[in-house]
Amino acid sequence: MPGENLPGVYHAKDIVYHYYLLPPFSQRRFVIGRNVIVVGAGNVMMDLAHYLVHEKKVDEVTAVVRRGPADVKFTRKEMENVVGNLDLKALDAEFERVAPHMQAVGQDVVAAKNAFLEAFPKASERVSDTRLRFEFLASPVRILGSWTTGVSALKIEDNHLVTVDGSVKAQGSGITRQIEADTIIFAIGDTVDKDFCMPIYGDAYVVVKEPRFPVNDISYEAFDVDANCPMEKVFLAGWARQASTGLVGVARKDGENAAQAVQQYLQTQPPMMDNENVYLKFADWLQDIHPLAVTKRWLARLEAAEQAEAQIRHLEYFKFATNDEMLRAMGL
Ligand SMILES: NC(=O)c1ccc[n+]([C@@H]2O[C@H](COP(=O)([O-])OP(=O)(O)OC[C@H]3O[C@@H](n4cnc5c(N)ncnc54)[C@H](OP(=O)(O)O)[C@@H]3O)[C@@H](O)[C@H]2O)c1
Repeated sequence: MPGENLPGVYHAKDIVYHYYLLPPFSQRRFVIGRNVIVVGAGNVMMDLAHYLVHEKKVDEVTAVVRRGPADVKFTRKEMENVVGNLDLKALDAEFERVAPHMQAVGQDVVAAKNAFLEAFPKASERVSDTRLRFEFLASPVRILGSWTTGVSALKIEDNHLVTVDGSVKAQGSGITRQIEADTIIFAIGDTVDKDFCMPIYGDAYVVVKEPRFPVNDISYEAFDVDANCPMEKVFLAGWARQASTGLVGVARKDGENAAQAVQQYLQTQPPMMDNENVYLKFADWLQDIHPLAVTKRWLARLEAAEQAEAQIRHLEYFKFATNDEMLRAMGL
Protein backbone atom coordinates (compact mmCIF):
# COMPACT_ATOMS: atom_id res chain seq x y z
CA MET A 1 0.00 0.00 0.00
CA PRO A 2 1.39 3.45 -0.83
CA GLY A 3 2.87 4.98 2.32
CA GLU A 4 3.22 1.71 4.24
CA ASN A 5 6.92 2.33 4.88
CA LEU A 6 6.42 5.77 6.41
CA PRO A 7 7.65 6.31 9.98
CA GLY A 8 4.80 5.49 12.34
CA VAL A 9 3.36 2.53 10.37
CA TYR A 10 3.75 -0.83 12.10
CA HIS A 11 2.81 -4.47 11.83
CA ALA A 12 0.85 -5.74 14.85
CA LYS A 13 3.19 -8.64 15.44
CA ASP A 14 6.24 -6.39 15.94
CA ILE A 15 4.46 -4.27 18.55
CA VAL A 16 2.84 -7.24 20.32
CA TYR A 17 6.23 -8.97 20.53
CA HIS A 18 7.70 -5.69 21.80
CA TYR A 19 5.33 -5.35 24.74
CA TYR A 20 5.48 -9.04 25.55
CA LEU A 21 9.26 -8.51 25.83
CA LEU A 22 10.37 -10.88 23.08
CA PRO A 23 13.91 -10.15 21.83
CA PRO A 24 14.88 -8.54 19.52
CA PHE A 25 11.52 -6.70 19.34
CA SER A 26 11.73 -5.87 23.06
CA GLN A 27 14.85 -3.80 22.37
CA ARG A 28 13.50 -1.98 19.33
CA ARG A 29 12.14 1.52 19.65
CA PHE A 30 8.56 2.00 18.46
CA VAL A 31 7.39 5.58 18.34
CA ILE A 32 3.70 5.61 19.21
CA GLY A 33 1.89 8.94 18.82
CA ARG A 34 -1.27 10.21 20.51
CA ASN A 35 -3.78 9.36 17.80
CA VAL A 36 -3.52 5.73 16.76
CA ILE A 37 -5.37 3.75 14.10
CA VAL A 38 -5.40 -0.03 14.40
CA VAL A 39 -6.61 -1.77 11.24
CA GLY A 40 -8.51 -5.04 11.80
CA ALA A 41 -11.17 -6.39 14.17
CA GLY A 42 -9.64 -9.52 15.67
CA ASN A 43 -8.31 -10.30 19.14
CA VAL A 44 -4.92 -8.89 18.16
CA MET A 45 -6.51 -5.50 17.40
CA MET A 46 -8.13 -5.65 20.87
CA ASP A 47 -4.85 -6.68 22.51
CA LEU A 48 -3.21 -3.64 20.93
CA ALA A 49 -6.10 -1.40 22.02
CA HIS A 50 -5.61 -2.74 25.56
CA TYR A 51 -1.91 -1.80 25.45
CA LEU A 52 -2.62 1.64 23.96
CA VAL A 53 -5.36 2.39 26.50
CA HIS A 54 -3.70 0.96 29.63
CA GLU A 55 0.04 1.40 29.04
CA LYS A 56 0.54 4.13 26.47
CA LYS A 57 -2.59 6.06 27.52
CA VAL A 58 -2.86 7.66 24.08
CA ASP A 59 -5.59 10.24 23.29
CA GLU A 60 -7.50 8.19 20.74
CA VAL A 61 -7.55 4.66 19.33
CA THR A 62 -9.60 4.12 16.17
CA ALA A 63 -10.26 0.59 14.96
CA VAL A 64 -10.68 0.61 11.18
CA VAL A 65 -12.81 -2.36 10.15
CA ARG A 66 -13.49 -3.32 6.54
CA ARG A 67 -16.86 -4.99 7.24
CA GLY A 68 -19.55 -4.12 9.80
CA PRO A 69 -20.10 -4.50 13.55
CA ALA A 70 -21.72 -7.94 13.08
CA ASP A 71 -18.51 -9.23 11.46
CA VAL A 72 -15.93 -8.38 14.13
CA LYS A 73 -13.82 -11.32 15.30
CA PHE A 74 -12.70 -10.27 18.78
CA THR A 75 -14.21 -11.94 21.83
CA ARG A 76 -16.19 -10.33 24.64
CA LYS A 77 -13.37 -11.19 27.04
CA GLU A 78 -10.91 -9.01 25.05
CA MET A 79 -13.53 -6.25 24.83
CA GLU A 80 -13.87 -6.20 28.65
CA ASN A 81 -10.32 -4.82 28.92
CA VAL A 82 -11.14 -1.65 26.97
CA VAL A 83 -14.92 -1.24 26.99
CA GLY A 84 -14.67 1.40 29.76
CA ASN A 85 -12.91 3.67 27.24
CA LEU A 86 -15.42 3.13 24.43
CA ASP A 87 -16.76 6.44 23.07
CA LEU A 88 -20.46 5.54 23.27
CA LYS A 89 -21.64 8.65 21.41
CA ALA A 90 -19.33 7.84 18.51
CA LEU A 91 -20.44 4.18 18.62
CA ASP A 92 -24.13 5.18 18.42
CA ALA A 93 -23.42 7.48 15.46
CA GLU A 94 -21.41 4.76 13.71
CA PHE A 95 -24.17 2.17 14.20
CA GLU A 96 -26.69 4.64 12.78
CA ARG A 97 -24.46 5.26 9.74
CA VAL A 98 -23.89 1.59 8.94
CA ALA A 99 -27.33 0.19 9.94
CA PRO A 100 -28.81 0.44 6.40
CA HIS A 101 -25.82 -1.51 5.02
CA MET A 102 -26.24 -4.22 7.66
CA GLN A 103 -29.98 -4.48 7.04
CA ALA A 104 -29.33 -4.78 3.29
CA VAL A 105 -27.58 -8.13 3.94
CA GLY A 106 -30.03 -9.26 6.63
CA GLN A 107 -27.84 -8.52 9.68
CA ASP A 108 -29.42 -7.80 13.07
CA VAL A 109 -28.30 -4.30 14.10
CA VAL A 110 -29.64 -4.52 17.67
CA ALA A 111 -27.99 -7.89 18.34
CA ALA A 112 -24.68 -6.60 16.95
CA LYS A 113 -24.82 -3.56 19.21
CA ASN A 114 -25.71 -5.64 22.25
CA ALA A 115 -22.70 -7.84 21.54
CA PHE A 116 -20.53 -4.73 21.92
CA LEU A 117 -22.21 -3.57 25.11
CA GLU A 118 -22.42 -6.91 26.92
CA ALA A 119 -18.77 -6.52 27.97
CA PHE A 120 -19.74 -3.62 30.30
CA PRO A 121 -20.69 -5.65 33.42
CA LYS A 122 -17.15 -7.06 33.59
CA ALA A 123 -15.31 -3.95 32.36
CA SER A 124 -11.73 -3.56 33.59
CA GLU A 125 -10.93 -0.55 35.72
CA ARG A 126 -10.60 2.60 33.62
CA VAL A 127 -7.03 3.89 33.93
CA SER A 128 -6.84 6.51 31.17
CA ASP A 129 -8.92 9.01 29.23
CA THR A 130 -8.17 7.32 25.90
CA ARG A 131 -11.19 7.39 23.56
CA LEU A 132 -11.79 4.14 21.75
CA ARG A 133 -13.89 4.32 18.62
CA PHE A 134 -14.70 2.26 15.54
CA GLU A 135 -14.83 3.12 11.84
CA PHE A 136 -16.77 0.37 10.10
CA LEU A 137 -17.07 -0.39 6.39
CA ALA A 138 -13.68 1.20 5.74
CA SER A 139 -10.77 -0.29 3.77
CA PRO A 140 -7.34 1.38 3.85
CA VAL A 141 -6.11 2.46 0.41
CA ARG A 142 -3.19 4.79 1.15
CA ILE A 143 -1.18 6.17 4.06
CA LEU A 144 -0.55 9.88 3.95
CA GLY A 145 2.40 11.67 5.51
CA SER A 146 6.02 12.49 4.87
CA TRP A 147 9.44 11.03 5.58
CA THR A 148 10.30 13.88 7.90
CA THR A 149 7.08 14.16 9.93
CA GLY A 150 5.74 10.60 9.62
CA VAL A 151 2.12 9.55 9.24
CA SER A 152 -0.59 12.20 9.09
CA ALA A 153 -3.69 10.28 7.99
CA LEU A 154 -5.10 7.05 6.61
CA LYS A 155 -7.03 7.31 3.36
CA ILE A 156 -9.87 4.81 3.35
CA GLU A 157 -12.48 3.70 0.85
CA ASP A 158 -16.04 3.39 2.15
CA ASN A 159 -17.50 -0.08 1.63
CA HIS A 160 -20.93 -1.64 1.11
CA LEU A 161 -21.78 -5.09 2.38
CA VAL A 162 -22.67 -7.77 -0.14
CA THR A 163 -23.49 -11.45 0.17
CA VAL A 164 -21.28 -13.77 -1.87
CA ASP A 165 -21.92 -17.53 -1.68
CA GLY A 166 -23.75 -17.07 1.61
CA SER A 167 -21.07 -15.01 3.37
CA VAL A 168 -20.97 -11.27 3.91
CA LYS A 169 -18.14 -9.44 2.13
CA ALA A 170 -16.97 -5.84 1.89
CA GLN A 171 -17.26 -4.17 -1.51
CA GLY A 172 -15.59 -0.83 -2.27
CA SER A 173 -17.89 2.07 -3.11
CA GLY A 174 -15.22 4.14 -4.86
CA ILE A 175 -15.76 6.92 -2.30
CA THR A 176 -12.68 7.77 -0.27
CA ARG A 177 -12.00 9.95 2.77
CA GLN A 178 -9.23 10.52 5.29
CA ILE A 179 -8.96 9.72 8.98
CA GLU A 180 -6.28 11.66 10.82
CA ALA A 181 -3.67 9.69 12.76
CA ASP A 182 -0.01 9.85 13.72
CA THR A 183 0.43 6.08 14.09
CA ILE A 184 -1.08 3.21 12.10
CA ILE A 185 -0.84 -0.44 13.15
CA PHE A 186 -1.98 -3.23 10.83
CA ALA A 187 -3.47 -6.20 12.71
CA ILE A 188 -4.83 -7.97 9.66
CA GLY A 189 -2.53 -10.77 8.65
CA ASP A 190 0.96 -12.12 8.47
CA THR A 191 3.33 -13.79 6.06
CA VAL A 192 6.06 -16.40 6.49
CA ASP A 193 9.75 -15.44 6.66
CA LYS A 194 10.98 -14.69 3.13
CA ASP A 195 14.64 -15.03 4.18
CA PHE A 196 14.49 -18.83 3.94
CA CYS A 197 14.31 -18.51 0.13
CA MET A 198 11.61 -21.16 -0.13
CA PRO A 199 8.72 -20.88 -2.59
CA ILE A 200 5.86 -18.80 -1.17
CA TYR A 201 2.27 -18.63 -2.40
CA GLY A 202 0.10 -15.97 -0.79
CA ASP A 203 1.24 -15.75 2.83
CA ALA A 204 2.56 -19.29 3.23
CA TYR A 205 5.29 -21.60 1.94
CA VAL A 206 4.15 -23.94 -0.80
CA VAL A 207 3.40 -27.46 0.44
CA VAL A 208 2.94 -30.71 -1.47
CA LYS A 209 -0.68 -30.95 -2.68
CA GLU A 210 -0.92 -34.71 -2.30
CA PRO A 211 1.28 -35.38 0.72
CA ARG A 212 3.07 -38.69 1.09
CA PHE A 213 3.08 -38.31 4.89
CA PRO A 214 -0.13 -36.53 5.87
CA VAL A 215 -1.25 -36.12 9.47
CA ASN A 216 -4.97 -35.37 9.96
CA ASP A 217 -5.11 -34.79 6.19
CA ILE A 218 -2.64 -31.90 6.49
CA SER A 219 0.41 -31.66 4.26
CA TYR A 220 3.64 -30.82 6.09
CA GLU A 221 6.00 -31.38 3.15
CA ALA A 222 7.55 -28.40 1.38
CA PHE A 223 7.13 -28.31 -2.40
CA ASP A 224 9.81 -27.29 -4.89
CA VAL A 225 7.86 -25.39 -7.55
CA ASP A 226 10.81 -25.20 -9.96
CA ALA A 227 11.52 -28.93 -9.92
CA ASN A 228 7.78 -29.69 -9.55
CA CYS A 229 8.38 -32.25 -6.81
CA PRO A 230 8.50 -32.45 -3.00
CA MET A 231 11.48 -30.72 -1.41
CA GLU A 232 13.33 -33.67 0.06
CA LYS A 233 13.77 -33.60 3.86
CA VAL A 234 12.01 -30.24 4.32
CA PHE A 235 8.90 -30.22 6.53
CA LEU A 236 6.94 -27.15 7.62
CA ALA A 237 5.32 -26.80 11.02
CA GLY A 238 3.35 -24.30 13.08
CA TRP A 239 3.75 -20.65 12.17
CA ALA A 240 6.29 -21.63 9.49
CA ARG A 241 3.44 -23.44 7.75
CA GLN A 242 0.70 -20.90 8.41
CA ALA A 243 2.02 -17.57 9.65
CA SER A 244 0.60 -16.51 13.04
CA THR A 245 -2.41 -18.80 12.78
CA GLY A 246 -3.94 -19.41 16.19
CA LEU A 247 -2.27 -19.04 19.55
CA VAL A 248 1.01 -20.59 20.66
CA GLY A 249 -0.73 -23.84 21.68
CA VAL A 250 -2.15 -24.30 18.17
CA ALA A 251 1.30 -23.84 16.62
CA ARG A 252 2.74 -26.28 19.14
CA LYS A 253 0.16 -28.95 18.26
CA ASP A 254 0.96 -28.38 14.60
CA GLY A 255 4.65 -28.92 15.42
CA GLU A 256 3.81 -32.24 17.08
CA ASN A 257 1.83 -33.31 14.00
CA ALA A 258 4.71 -32.29 11.73
CA ALA A 259 7.05 -34.41 13.88
CA GLN A 260 4.73 -37.36 13.20
CA ALA A 261 5.00 -36.63 9.46
CA VAL A 262 8.81 -36.58 9.76
CA GLN A 263 8.66 -39.88 11.61
CA GLN A 264 6.56 -41.41 8.83
CA TYR A 265 9.17 -40.20 6.35
CA LEU A 266 12.06 -41.63 8.39
CA GLN A 267 10.38 -45.02 8.42
CA THR A 268 10.71 -45.09 4.63
CA GLN A 269 14.49 -44.57 4.91
CA PRO A 270 17.12 -47.34 5.34
CA PRO A 271 18.26 -47.87 8.95
CA MET A 272 21.22 -45.81 10.15
CA MET A 273 24.54 -47.61 9.89
CA ASP A 274 26.34 -45.68 12.60
CA ASN A 275 23.81 -45.12 15.34
CA GLU A 276 26.02 -45.32 18.41
CA ASN A 277 25.97 -42.26 20.65
CA VAL A 278 23.62 -40.54 18.23
CA TYR A 279 22.49 -38.05 20.85
CA LEU A 280 26.04 -37.10 21.84
CA LYS A 281 27.05 -36.70 18.19
CA PHE A 282 24.05 -34.51 17.59
CA ALA A 283 24.86 -32.41 20.68
CA ASP A 284 28.45 -31.95 19.42
CA TRP A 285 27.23 -30.94 16.00
CA LEU A 286 24.80 -28.45 17.52
CA GLN A 287 27.60 -27.03 19.67
CA ASP A 288 29.69 -26.53 16.52
CA ILE A 289 27.05 -24.66 14.58
CA HIS A 290 25.59 -22.73 17.51
CA PRO A 291 27.58 -22.68 20.76
CA LEU A 292 24.68 -21.07 22.63
CA ALA A 293 21.92 -23.53 21.75
CA VAL A 294 19.56 -23.53 24.75
CA THR A 295 18.15 -26.84 25.95
CA LYS A 296 15.04 -27.51 27.99
CA ARG A 297 17.18 -27.90 31.12
CA TRP A 298 18.48 -24.35 30.70
CA LEU A 299 14.97 -23.04 30.14
CA ALA A 300 13.95 -24.42 33.54
CA ARG A 301 16.79 -22.36 35.06
CA LEU A 302 15.53 -19.26 33.27
CA GLU A 303 12.04 -19.83 34.59
CA ALA A 304 13.36 -20.20 38.13
CA ALA A 305 15.49 -17.03 37.79
CA GLU A 306 12.48 -15.06 36.52
CA GLN A 307 10.31 -16.31 39.36
CA ALA A 308 12.98 -15.30 41.89
CA GLU A 309 13.23 -11.84 40.29
CA ALA A 310 9.43 -11.45 40.44
CA GLN A 311 9.49 -12.22 44.17
CA ILE A 312 12.26 -9.71 44.84
CA ARG A 313 10.38 -7.02 42.94
CA HIS A 314 6.97 -7.99 44.41
CA LEU A 315 5.55 -8.55 40.92
CA GLU A 316 3.07 -11.10 39.66
CA TYR A 317 5.62 -12.19 37.05
CA PHE A 318 8.89 -10.97 35.61
CA LYS A 319 10.50 -11.46 32.20
CA PHE A 320 14.04 -10.59 31.12
CA ALA A 321 13.75 -8.53 27.95
CA THR A 322 17.11 -9.26 26.28
CA ASN A 323 18.92 -12.39 25.17
CA ASP A 324 22.01 -11.35 27.14
CA GLU A 325 20.07 -11.10 30.41
CA MET A 326 18.37 -14.44 29.77
CA LEU A 327 21.64 -16.17 28.98
CA ARG A 328 23.24 -14.71 32.10
CA ALA A 329 20.29 -15.86 34.21
CA MET A 330 20.78 -19.39 32.84
CA GLY A 331 24.49 -19.21 33.68
CA LEU A 332 25.50 -19.43 30.01
N1 LIG B 1 -2.21 -15.11 16.63
C1 LIG B 1 -1.26 -14.56 17.36
O1 LIG B 1 -0.85 -15.09 18.37
C2 LIG B 1 -0.68 -13.24 16.93
C3 LIG B 1 0.19 -12.59 17.81
C4 LIG B 1 0.68 -11.34 17.42
C5 LIG B 1 0.35 -10.78 16.22
N2 LIG B 1 -0.49 -11.42 15.37
C6 LIG B 1 -0.80 -10.73 14.11
O2 LIG B 1 -2.06 -10.10 14.14
C7 LIG B 1 -2.82 -10.46 12.96
C8 LIG B 1 -4.30 -10.51 13.30
O3 LIG B 1 -4.55 -11.58 14.18
P1 LIG B 1 -6.02 -11.89 14.69
O4 LIG B 1 -5.93 -13.12 15.52
O5 LIG B 1 -6.62 -10.67 15.27
O6 LIG B 1 -6.71 -12.24 13.29
P2 LIG B 1 -8.27 -12.32 12.91
O7 LIG B 1 -9.11 -12.66 14.07
O8 LIG B 1 -8.32 -13.17 11.69
O9 LIG B 1 -8.64 -10.82 12.50
C9 LIG B 1 -8.07 -10.23 11.38
C10 LIG B 1 -8.85 -8.97 11.06
O10 LIG B 1 -8.20 -8.33 9.96
C11 LIG B 1 -9.16 -8.04 8.96
N3 LIG B 1 -8.53 -8.05 7.65
C12 LIG B 1 -7.91 -9.09 7.04
N4 LIG B 1 -7.45 -8.72 5.84
C13 LIG B 1 -7.77 -7.42 5.70
C14 LIG B 1 -7.56 -6.48 4.68
N5 LIG B 1 -6.91 -6.79 3.56
N6 LIG B 1 -8.03 -5.23 4.84
C15 LIG B 1 -8.69 -4.88 5.97
N7 LIG B 1 -8.93 -5.73 6.99
C16 LIG B 1 -8.48 -6.99 6.85
C17 LIG B 1 -10.21 -9.12 9.10
O11 LIG B 1 -11.41 -8.68 8.50
P3 LIG B 1 -12.44 -9.74 7.84
O12 LIG B 1 -13.17 -10.34 9.00
O13 LIG B 1 -13.28 -8.88 6.99
O14 LIG B 1 -11.62 -10.73 7.08
C18 LIG B 1 -10.29 -9.24 10.63
O15 LIG B 1 -11.11 -8.24 11.17
C19 LIG B 1 -2.21 -11.81 12.61
O16 LIG B 1 -2.34 -12.14 11.30
C20 LIG B 1 -0.76 -11.63 12.98
O17 LIG B 1 -0.04 -10.99 11.98
C21 LIG B 1 -1.02 -12.64 15.74
